[in-house]
Amino acid sequence: MLSEHLDYLKDSTRLERFRSAIAKVVDSADTVVDLGCGSGILGLLCCEAGASHVLAIDSTDIIEVARETFQRAGLDGKSTFIRSPSQRVELSDPVDLVICDHVGYFGFDYGIIHTLQDARTRLLKRGGHLIPAGLRLYLGAVESETAQAKAHGWQEAGIPPEFHWVRNLTVNEKHGLKLPATCVLGQPAMLDDLDLHLDQPEFFSWSAELPIERDGVVHGLAGWFDCKLVEGVWMTNSPLVDDAIDRPQAFLPIDEAVPVCAGDVIKATVMARPADHLIAWVVEFPASGKRFSHSTWQGLVLTPEDLVRAQPDRVPQLSREGQARMTVLHYCDGERSVHEIEQLVLREHPDLFPSAQEISRFVMQVLGKDSE
Ligand SMILES: C[S@@+](CC[C@H](N)C(=O)[O-])C[C@H]1O[C@@H](n2cnc3c(N)ncnc32)[C@H](O)[C@@H]1O
Repeated sequence: MLSEHLDYLKDSTRLERFRSAIAKVVDSADTVVDLGCGSGILGLLCCEAGASHVLAIDSTDIIEVARETFQRAGLDGKSTFIRSPSQRVELSDPVDLVICDHVGYFGFDYGIIHTLQDARTRLLKRGGHLIPAGLRLYLGAVESETAQAKAHGWQEAGIPPEFHWVRNLTVNEKHGLKLPATCVLGQPAMLDDLDLHLDQPEFFSWSAELPIERDGVVHGLAGWFDCKLVEGVWMTNSPLVDDAIDRPQAFLPIDEAVPVCAGDVIKATVMARPADHLIAWVVEFPASGKRFSHSTWQGLVLTPEDLVRAQPDRVPQLSREGQARMTVLHYCDGERSVHEIEQLVLREHPDLFPSAQEISRFVMQVLGKDSE
Protein backbone atom coordinates (compact mmCIF):
# COMPACT_ATOMS: atom_id res chain seq x y z
CA MET A 1 0.00 0.00 0.00
CA LEU A 2 2.75 2.48 0.93
CA SER A 3 4.69 1.82 -2.28
CA GLU A 4 1.58 2.58 -4.38
CA HIS A 5 1.22 5.95 -2.65
CA LEU A 6 4.95 6.65 -3.01
CA ASP A 7 4.51 6.17 -6.77
CA TYR A 8 1.75 8.81 -6.76
CA LEU A 9 4.09 11.22 -4.93
CA LYS A 10 6.98 10.52 -7.29
CA ASP A 11 4.92 11.49 -10.33
CA SER A 12 6.10 15.09 -10.67
CA THR A 13 3.97 15.79 -13.77
CA ARG A 14 0.82 14.73 -11.90
CA LEU A 15 1.68 16.89 -8.89
CA GLU A 16 2.55 19.90 -11.03
CA ARG A 17 -0.85 19.63 -12.83
CA PHE A 18 -2.81 19.32 -9.58
CA ARG A 19 -0.82 22.25 -8.09
CA SER A 20 -1.69 24.45 -11.11
CA ALA A 21 -5.37 23.45 -10.95
CA ILE A 22 -5.57 24.16 -7.20
CA ALA A 23 -3.89 27.57 -7.67
CA LYS A 24 -6.67 28.49 -10.11
CA VAL A 25 -9.61 27.77 -7.80
CA VAL A 26 -8.60 27.75 -4.11
CA ASP A 27 -9.20 30.95 -2.12
CA SER A 28 -7.99 31.57 1.40
CA ALA A 29 -11.30 30.91 3.18
CA ASP A 30 -12.05 27.75 1.21
CA THR A 31 -12.90 24.42 2.76
CA VAL A 32 -11.94 21.26 0.91
CA VAL A 33 -12.90 17.58 0.85
CA ASP A 34 -9.87 15.51 -0.18
CA LEU A 35 -11.80 12.43 -1.33
CA GLY A 36 -9.71 9.26 -1.19
CA CYS A 37 -6.90 11.30 0.35
CA GLY A 38 -4.31 8.49 0.35
CA SER A 39 -1.09 10.04 1.68
CA GLY A 40 -2.90 13.39 1.94
CA ILE A 41 -0.94 15.04 -0.86
CA LEU A 42 -3.84 16.78 -2.61
CA GLY A 43 -5.15 18.23 0.68
CA LEU A 44 -1.62 19.34 1.51
CA LEU A 45 -1.38 21.20 -1.83
CA CYS A 46 -4.73 22.87 -1.04
CA CYS A 47 -3.40 24.02 2.36
CA GLU A 48 -0.27 25.39 0.64
CA ALA A 49 -2.62 27.34 -1.67
CA GLY A 50 -4.36 28.84 1.37
CA ALA A 51 -7.36 26.58 2.05
CA SER A 52 -8.77 27.18 5.53
CA HIS A 53 -9.68 23.55 6.27
CA VAL A 54 -9.22 20.13 4.66
CA LEU A 55 -11.54 17.20 5.39
CA ALA A 56 -9.54 14.18 4.35
CA ILE A 57 -11.55 11.02 3.68
CA ASP A 58 -10.15 7.56 2.95
CA SER A 59 -11.52 4.09 3.57
CA THR A 60 -8.13 2.44 4.22
CA ASP A 61 -5.22 2.51 6.71
CA ILE A 62 -3.30 5.00 4.55
CA ILE A 63 -5.34 7.78 6.18
CA GLU A 64 -3.11 7.39 9.26
CA VAL A 65 -0.13 8.44 7.12
CA ALA A 66 -2.08 11.51 6.01
CA ARG A 67 -3.10 12.35 9.59
CA GLU A 68 0.43 12.14 10.95
CA THR A 69 1.87 14.03 7.97
CA PHE A 70 -0.53 16.93 8.55
CA GLN A 71 0.28 16.90 12.27
CA ARG A 72 4.03 16.98 11.62
CA ALA A 73 3.47 19.83 9.13
CA GLY A 74 1.69 21.84 11.87
CA LEU A 75 -1.64 21.58 10.03
CA ASP A 76 -3.66 19.60 12.59
CA GLY A 77 -5.80 22.66 13.37
CA LYS A 78 -6.69 22.96 9.69
CA SER A 79 -7.57 19.34 9.02
CA THR A 80 -10.04 16.59 9.94
CA PHE A 81 -9.62 12.92 9.04
CA ILE A 82 -12.52 10.57 8.40
CA ARG A 83 -11.84 6.89 7.83
CA SER A 84 -14.82 5.74 5.79
CA PRO A 85 -16.07 5.26 2.25
CA SER A 86 -17.03 8.79 1.15
CA GLN A 87 -20.56 7.54 0.36
CA ARG A 88 -21.16 7.09 4.12
CA VAL A 89 -19.80 10.48 5.21
CA GLU A 90 -22.21 13.22 6.27
CA LEU A 91 -21.04 16.82 6.76
CA SER A 92 -22.74 19.58 8.73
CA ASP A 93 -21.51 22.17 6.18
CA PRO A 94 -20.84 21.54 2.49
CA VAL A 95 -17.38 22.52 1.23
CA ASP A 96 -16.05 24.85 -1.50
CA LEU A 97 -13.98 22.21 -3.30
CA VAL A 98 -14.03 18.42 -3.69
CA ILE A 99 -10.76 17.07 -5.05
CA CYS A 100 -9.65 13.52 -5.90
CA ASP A 101 -7.53 11.44 -8.25
CA HIS A 102 -9.92 8.62 -9.04
CA VAL A 103 -9.27 8.43 -12.76
CA GLY A 104 -7.77 4.92 -12.82
CA TYR A 105 -6.31 3.77 -16.13
CA PHE A 106 -9.25 4.33 -18.51
CA GLY A 107 -10.66 7.45 -16.81
CA PHE A 108 -13.92 5.91 -15.61
CA ASP A 109 -12.66 2.55 -14.27
CA TYR A 110 -11.89 3.58 -10.66
CA GLY A 111 -15.48 4.70 -10.04
CA ILE A 112 -14.94 8.47 -10.35
CA ILE A 113 -18.20 9.13 -12.16
CA HIS A 114 -20.54 7.98 -9.42
CA THR A 115 -18.22 8.69 -6.47
CA LEU A 116 -17.93 12.35 -7.52
CA GLN A 117 -21.65 12.48 -8.39
CA ASP A 118 -22.46 11.49 -4.81
CA ALA A 119 -19.90 13.94 -3.37
CA ARG A 120 -21.09 16.77 -5.63
CA THR A 121 -24.72 16.41 -4.59
CA ARG A 122 -24.14 15.88 -0.84
CA LEU A 123 -20.76 17.34 0.20
CA LEU A 124 -20.18 20.29 -2.18
CA LYS A 125 -21.66 23.79 -1.92
CA ARG A 126 -23.87 24.84 -4.82
CA GLY A 127 -21.47 26.48 -7.29
CA GLY A 128 -18.45 24.86 -5.61
CA HIS A 129 -15.50 23.45 -7.55
CA LEU A 130 -14.76 19.87 -8.56
CA ILE A 131 -11.23 18.72 -9.38
CA PRO A 132 -11.32 16.86 -11.78
CA ALA A 133 -14.04 18.72 -13.68
CA GLY A 134 -14.16 16.53 -16.79
CA LEU A 135 -12.87 13.50 -18.66
CA ARG A 136 -12.23 12.60 -22.27
CA LEU A 137 -11.98 8.87 -22.93
CA TYR A 138 -9.90 7.40 -25.77
CA LEU A 139 -9.60 4.00 -27.44
CA GLY A 140 -6.86 2.67 -29.71
CA ALA A 141 -6.01 -0.63 -31.45
CA VAL A 142 -2.87 -2.13 -29.95
CA GLU A 143 -0.03 -4.40 -31.00
CA SER A 144 1.99 -5.47 -27.96
CA GLU A 145 3.67 -8.80 -27.23
CA THR A 146 3.94 -7.72 -23.57
CA ALA A 147 0.20 -7.18 -23.39
CA GLN A 148 -0.40 -10.46 -25.22
CA ALA A 149 1.75 -12.29 -22.67
CA LYS A 150 -0.25 -10.76 -19.78
CA ALA A 151 -3.55 -11.85 -21.26
CA HIS A 152 -2.54 -15.28 -22.58
CA GLY A 153 0.36 -16.20 -20.27
CA TRP A 154 -1.55 -18.99 -18.50
CA GLN A 155 -1.42 -21.15 -21.60
CA GLU A 156 2.16 -20.46 -22.61
CA ALA A 157 4.63 -23.30 -23.19
CA GLY A 158 6.06 -24.34 -19.83
CA ILE A 159 2.87 -23.73 -17.86
CA PRO A 160 1.41 -27.12 -16.79
CA PRO A 161 -1.49 -27.80 -19.20
CA GLU A 162 -3.96 -28.28 -16.30
CA PHE A 163 -3.80 -24.48 -15.84
CA HIS A 164 -4.31 -23.45 -19.47
CA TRP A 165 -8.04 -22.89 -18.96
CA VAL A 166 -7.23 -19.87 -16.69
CA ARG A 167 -6.43 -17.95 -19.86
CA ASN A 168 -10.21 -17.84 -20.44
CA LEU A 169 -10.36 -15.60 -17.36
CA THR A 170 -7.34 -13.41 -18.12
CA VAL A 171 -8.51 -12.59 -21.68
CA ASN A 172 -11.59 -11.16 -19.97
CA GLU A 173 -9.66 -8.91 -17.60
CA LYS A 174 -8.64 -5.28 -17.89
CA HIS A 175 -4.85 -5.16 -17.55
CA GLY A 176 -2.91 -2.06 -16.46
CA LEU A 177 0.04 -1.62 -18.84
CA LYS A 178 2.33 1.22 -19.85
CA LEU A 179 2.33 1.00 -23.62
CA PRO A 180 4.85 2.81 -25.85
CA ALA A 181 3.42 5.04 -28.62
CA THR A 182 4.68 2.55 -31.23
CA CYS A 183 2.11 -0.02 -29.97
CA VAL A 184 -0.84 2.06 -31.15
CA LEU A 185 -1.68 0.95 -34.70
CA GLY A 186 -3.60 4.03 -35.84
CA GLN A 187 -5.51 7.16 -34.92
CA PRO A 188 -7.35 6.58 -31.60
CA ALA A 189 -11.04 7.42 -31.23
CA MET A 190 -12.49 9.72 -28.57
CA LEU A 191 -15.30 7.74 -26.93
CA ASP A 192 -16.75 10.44 -24.71
CA ASP A 193 -16.28 13.92 -23.27
CA LEU A 194 -17.81 13.85 -19.80
CA ASP A 195 -18.67 16.87 -17.66
CA LEU A 196 -18.38 15.67 -14.04
CA HIS A 197 -20.63 18.55 -12.89
CA LEU A 198 -23.54 16.81 -14.63
CA ASP A 199 -25.44 13.66 -13.63
CA GLN A 200 -24.30 10.66 -15.67
CA PRO A 201 -26.06 7.38 -16.53
CA GLU A 202 -25.34 4.08 -14.76
CA PHE A 203 -24.58 2.36 -18.08
CA PHE A 204 -22.46 3.53 -21.02
CA SER A 205 -22.06 2.11 -24.51
CA TRP A 206 -19.45 3.62 -26.82
CA SER A 207 -18.80 2.56 -30.41
CA ALA A 208 -15.87 3.59 -32.60
CA GLU A 209 -14.14 2.84 -35.86
CA LEU A 210 -10.38 2.51 -35.48
CA PRO A 211 -8.36 3.04 -38.67
CA ILE A 212 -5.21 0.91 -39.01
CA GLU A 213 -2.28 2.95 -40.31
CA ARG A 214 0.45 0.29 -40.60
CA ASP A 215 0.64 -3.45 -41.18
CA GLY A 216 0.78 -5.33 -37.91
CA VAL A 217 -1.04 -7.63 -35.49
CA VAL A 218 -3.87 -6.53 -33.20
CA HIS A 219 -3.62 -7.99 -29.69
CA GLY A 220 -6.40 -5.90 -28.19
CA LEU A 221 -7.58 -2.39 -27.37
CA ALA A 222 -6.12 0.24 -25.08
CA GLY A 223 -8.16 2.84 -23.21
CA TRP A 224 -6.83 6.02 -21.66
CA PHE A 225 -7.95 9.51 -20.62
CA ASP A 226 -7.41 13.23 -20.93
CA CYS A 227 -8.55 14.55 -17.56
CA LYS A 228 -9.64 18.19 -17.25
CA LEU A 229 -8.64 19.18 -13.70
CA VAL A 230 -10.01 22.73 -14.11
CA GLU A 231 -10.52 24.97 -17.15
CA GLY A 232 -7.14 25.15 -18.93
CA VAL A 233 -5.34 22.49 -16.82
CA TRP A 234 -5.31 18.90 -18.07
CA MET A 235 -3.47 15.69 -17.27
CA THR A 236 -3.33 12.61 -19.48
CA ASN A 237 -1.97 9.05 -19.48
CA SER A 238 -2.00 8.93 -23.28
CA PRO A 239 0.75 6.70 -24.66
CA LEU A 240 1.03 9.15 -27.58
CA VAL A 241 2.35 12.26 -25.80
CA ASP A 242 5.61 13.11 -24.04
CA ASP A 243 4.19 14.95 -21.03
CA ALA A 244 1.84 12.22 -19.78
CA ILE A 245 1.55 11.41 -16.08
CA ASP A 246 3.12 8.17 -14.87
CA ARG A 247 0.04 5.94 -15.17
CA PRO A 248 -0.64 2.71 -17.12
CA GLN A 249 -3.29 2.49 -19.80
CA ALA A 250 -6.16 -0.03 -19.64
CA PHE A 251 -5.43 -2.95 -21.99
CA LEU A 252 -8.50 -4.96 -23.10
CA PRO A 253 -7.34 -8.21 -24.76
CA ILE A 254 -8.94 -10.27 -27.53
CA ASP A 255 -9.09 -14.04 -27.84
CA GLU A 256 -6.52 -14.31 -30.63
CA ALA A 257 -3.97 -12.08 -32.34
CA VAL A 258 -5.31 -10.81 -35.69
CA PRO A 259 -3.00 -9.67 -38.54
CA VAL A 260 -4.10 -6.34 -40.09
CA CYS A 261 -2.97 -4.17 -43.00
CA ALA A 262 -2.65 -0.40 -43.37
CA GLY A 263 -6.04 0.86 -44.56
CA ASP A 264 -8.11 -1.70 -42.61
CA VAL A 265 -10.71 -0.39 -40.17
CA ILE A 266 -11.61 -2.14 -36.92
CA LYS A 267 -15.00 -1.69 -35.26
CA ALA A 268 -15.05 -1.60 -31.47
CA THR A 269 -17.76 -1.22 -28.86
CA VAL A 270 -17.02 -0.72 -25.15
CA MET A 271 -19.83 -0.98 -22.61
CA ALA A 272 -19.44 -0.14 -18.94
CA ARG A 273 -21.23 -0.07 -15.63
CA PRO A 274 -18.53 1.97 -13.84
CA ALA A 275 -20.10 1.79 -10.37
CA ASP A 276 -19.96 -2.04 -10.55
CA HIS A 277 -16.48 -2.06 -12.16
CA LEU A 278 -17.87 -3.99 -15.13
CA ILE A 279 -16.56 -3.49 -18.68
CA ALA A 280 -17.51 -5.41 -21.84
CA TRP A 281 -15.88 -5.04 -25.26
CA VAL A 282 -16.66 -6.28 -28.74
CA VAL A 283 -14.06 -6.04 -31.51
CA GLU A 284 -14.85 -6.72 -35.18
CA PHE A 285 -12.44 -7.08 -38.09
CA PRO A 286 -14.50 -6.54 -41.29
CA ALA A 287 -11.52 -7.48 -43.50
CA SER A 288 -11.27 -11.01 -42.07
CA GLY A 289 -14.77 -11.38 -40.61
CA LYS A 290 -13.37 -12.08 -37.14
CA ARG A 291 -15.32 -10.93 -34.10
CA PHE A 292 -14.50 -11.11 -30.39
CA SER A 293 -16.70 -10.43 -27.39
CA HIS A 294 -15.30 -10.16 -23.86
CA SER A 295 -16.31 -8.83 -20.47
CA THR A 296 -14.81 -8.49 -17.02
CA TRP A 297 -17.89 -10.40 -15.80
CA GLN A 298 -16.53 -13.47 -17.65
CA GLY A 299 -13.15 -12.79 -16.02
CA LEU A 300 -14.51 -13.11 -12.48
CA VAL A 301 -13.75 -16.23 -10.47
CA LEU A 302 -17.31 -16.98 -9.32
CA THR A 303 -18.46 -20.00 -7.35
CA PRO A 304 -21.96 -21.48 -7.85
CA GLU A 305 -22.70 -20.18 -4.32
CA ASP A 306 -21.82 -16.62 -5.45
CA LEU A 307 -24.41 -16.89 -8.22
CA VAL A 308 -27.08 -18.18 -5.83
CA ARG A 309 -26.22 -15.40 -3.35
CA ALA A 310 -26.87 -12.79 -6.05
CA GLN A 311 -30.53 -13.87 -6.43
CA PRO A 312 -32.78 -11.12 -4.98
CA ASP A 313 -35.54 -13.62 -4.03
CA ARG A 314 -33.15 -15.79 -1.99
CA VAL A 315 -34.07 -16.06 1.71
CA PRO A 316 -30.72 -15.58 3.49
CA GLN A 317 -29.68 -17.75 6.45
CA LEU A 318 -27.00 -16.60 8.87
CA SER A 319 -23.71 -18.36 8.04
CA ARG A 320 -21.58 -19.96 10.75
CA GLU A 321 -19.36 -16.86 10.71
CA GLY A 322 -22.42 -14.58 10.82
CA GLN A 323 -23.72 -16.44 13.87
CA ALA A 324 -20.29 -16.21 15.52
CA ARG A 325 -20.24 -12.45 14.83
CA MET A 326 -23.68 -12.07 16.43
CA THR A 327 -22.45 -14.02 19.45
CA VAL A 328 -19.47 -11.70 19.95
CA LEU A 329 -21.43 -8.49 19.35
CA HIS A 330 -24.11 -9.66 21.79
CA TYR A 331 -21.53 -9.31 24.61
CA CYS A 332 -20.51 -5.82 23.46
CA ASP A 333 -22.73 -3.87 25.89
CA GLY A 334 -20.73 -0.70 26.53
CA GLU A 335 -19.57 -2.04 29.92
CA ARG A 336 -17.47 -5.16 29.33
CA SER A 337 -13.81 -4.80 28.33
CA VAL A 338 -12.32 -6.55 25.29
CA HIS A 339 -10.61 -9.02 27.62
CA GLU A 340 -13.88 -9.78 29.46
CA ILE A 341 -15.71 -10.35 26.17
CA GLU A 342 -12.95 -12.63 24.91
CA GLN A 343 -13.03 -14.70 28.13
CA LEU A 344 -16.84 -14.94 28.03
CA VAL A 345 -16.86 -16.14 24.41
CA LEU A 346 -14.10 -18.69 25.13
CA ARG A 347 -15.95 -20.01 28.19
CA GLU A 348 -19.52 -20.08 26.84
CA HIS A 349 -18.84 -20.84 23.15
CA PRO A 350 -15.78 -23.09 23.10
CA ASP A 351 -16.95 -24.64 19.80
CA LEU A 352 -17.29 -21.36 17.92
CA PHE A 353 -14.13 -22.24 15.94
CA PRO A 354 -11.82 -25.27 16.09
CA SER A 355 -9.22 -23.72 18.45
CA ALA A 356 -9.10 -21.22 21.32
CA GLN A 357 -6.51 -19.17 19.37
CA GLU A 358 -8.87 -18.87 16.41
CA ILE A 359 -11.76 -17.84 18.69
CA SER A 360 -9.60 -15.14 20.32
CA ARG A 361 -8.43 -13.89 16.90
CA PHE A 362 -12.02 -13.72 15.66
CA VAL A 363 -13.20 -11.82 18.77
CA MET A 364 -10.41 -9.25 18.28
CA GLN A 365 -11.27 -8.90 14.58
CA VAL A 366 -14.99 -8.37 15.22
CA LEU A 367 -14.41 -5.89 18.05
CA GLY A 368 -11.72 -4.09 16.04
CA LYS A 369 -14.08 -3.64 13.11
CA ASP A 370 -17.58 -3.31 14.56
CA SER A 371 -17.08 -1.38 17.80
CA GLU A 372 -15.95 2.14 18.76
C1 LIG B 1 -5.66 6.72 -6.54
S1 LIG B 1 -5.46 6.86 -4.80
C2 LIG B 1 -5.16 8.58 -4.68
C3 LIG B 1 -4.57 9.00 -3.38
C4 LIG B 1 -4.28 10.49 -3.24
N1 LIG B 1 -5.50 11.29 -3.35
C5 LIG B 1 -3.31 10.96 -4.27
O1 LIG B 1 -3.70 11.74 -5.13
O2 LIG B 1 -2.14 10.56 -4.21
C6 LIG B 1 -7.14 6.68 -4.28
C7 LIG B 1 -7.39 6.58 -2.78
O3 LIG B 1 -8.79 6.70 -2.60
C8 LIG B 1 -9.26 5.77 -1.62
N2 LIG B 1 -10.68 5.56 -1.97
C9 LIG B 1 -11.17 5.07 -3.12
N3 LIG B 1 -12.50 5.20 -3.16
C10 LIG B 1 -12.87 5.77 -1.99
C11 LIG B 1 -14.12 6.16 -1.42
N4 LIG B 1 -15.26 6.02 -2.09
N5 LIG B 1 -14.13 6.69 -0.18
C12 LIG B 1 -12.98 6.86 0.51
N6 LIG B 1 -11.76 6.51 0.02
C13 LIG B 1 -11.71 5.98 -1.22
C14 LIG B 1 -8.32 4.59 -1.73
O4 LIG B 1 -8.25 3.92 -0.50
C15 LIG B 1 -6.98 5.29 -2.10
O5 LIG B 1 -6.23 5.59 -0.96
